[in-house]
Amino acid sequence: MTQDLLKFNHDKVLVEGLSKEFSAEIEVPGDKSISHRAVMLGSIADGNSRIYNLSVSGDNLATVAAFRKLGVNIKKQNSGGSKKDFIIEGVGFYGLKEPKSVINTANSGTLTRLIAGMLAGNDFFSVLSGDKYLNSRPMRRIIEPLKLMGAKISGRGGDAYTPLAISGGGLQSIFYEVPVPSAQVKSCLMLAALYAEGDTVIYESKATRDHTENLLKFQGYPVGTEDSPSGGSFITVKGRHTGGLNPFEFIIPGDFSSAAFFIVLGILNKNSEITIKNIIINEKRTGLLKALKMMGADVDTVVKGMSPETAGDIKVKYSDSIKGIALPPEIVPDMIDEFPIFAVIASFAEGKTTVTGAKELRVKESDRIKSIVYNLNAIGIDIKELEDGFEINGNPDLKCAGKGLPKKLNSFGDHRIAMSMVIAGLILKNAKLEIKDINCINTSFPEFFDTLNSIIK
Ligand code: S3P
Repeated sequence: MTQDLLKFNHDKVLVEGLSKEFSAEIEVPGDKSISHRAVMLGSIADGNSRIYNLSVSGDNLATVAAFRKLGVNIKKQNSGGSKKDFIIEGVGFYGLKEPKSVINTANSGTLTRLIAGMLAGNDFFSVLSGDKYLNSRPMRRIIEPLKLMGAKISGRGGDAYTPLAISGGGLQSIFYEVPVPSAQVKSCLMLAALYAEGDTVIYESKATRDHTENLLKFQGYPVGTEDSPSGGSFITVKGRHTGGLNPFEFIIPGDFSSAAFFIVLGILNKNSEITIKNIIINEKRTGLLKALKMMGADVDTVVKGMSPETAGDIKVKYSDSIKGIALPPEIVPDMIDEFPIFAVIASFAEGKTTVTGAKELRVKESDRIKSIVYNLNAIGIDIKELEDGFEINGNPDLKCAGKGLPKKLNSFGDHRIAMSMVIAGLILKNAKLEIKDINCINTSFPEFFDTLNSIIK
């Protein structure tokens, strides 16, 4: 007889502590960041691209819908095959068509910011708008540099927010230093640079995820990358390259950010271990593994494939001596999406964990510093909000604290807060957590509860 630890009631879930020990091997869906880029760059390639294991999360389906609206034929590979294998009939560099209505970018900051760069280079009119969360996220960070390239783009609130209106074309190359570490801003400018006259050079003082660079190179497009001695990176993109972009075949590796929830569950749950197969192992994404090793976790990675992205298996084991750390601020961008789940492991570690230099967390799908502090406070964790991070006095004994009425938590519409709190609920052996607004999990990981049930049931 298995115990049902997850009880659903409309948009809420009640989570009970997990008493089972497990040894599991799982896969998680294709990487969200790479899936966006594969659809975008496949759409403007010269011919048909075959993509396997595309993420079919809400965010990525919004990207597929957006490019269909721009006139690209995107279809499932074959009726008998996986629902995640697609063919994109690339229309070439200048083949996108003016959309007849507003492009809905849903909850996705990556879609909004990257497609804005591409549309700024295309000689037609377009409007982008998303959901209530997306429409309050900052857009000036892309509008300003796009305007420097000569783009005709404007946004609500004096260029602060979506909706964005774009009359594309006539771009010039620029040299631009990205003021905040942001792969979305960098990639937006790289996609605009494809359509600009001359070579655009982008400098980031801390290198961020390089999936746009990797895929463009894989497609034979002239992109140069050079590391700066201080940990930054110069990216040079040739404008209007006459050779265009080659179509490609790509098996998208699993999403590290989705794997992170199971990595932490495996480390915190007594006498357990978990292997996550075929995951992206790109060091600009796996900063969490560095942090976990610093905390004393048993983490092992085996690289299996390299092109265009490094992929492999990650294995973690339970450890009863996880220690709090002062997280080095330079690894913050390499684990920028993992702070909600990192806060969970820090809560059950011995001693103090401090996160600083992470102000960007305030402008994610929610203000993640506030969302983390609110929820962990409600559970009884000793956490303090900092302007650019948080401080947690962790305590392994808290795993057994609790009882009484379910603690009421809130995802604030943020998928990664929701999933992190589900993991916290499984680790709190005696307490129950009721988490509201959990449908947002579909934006990145619709298979989350099925994957979880395959381990805990
Ligand atoms: C992403 C970049 C990051 C990350 C987001 C995905 C991307 O955002 O938080 O989930 O795919 O480029 P920023 O560029 O705003 O840091």
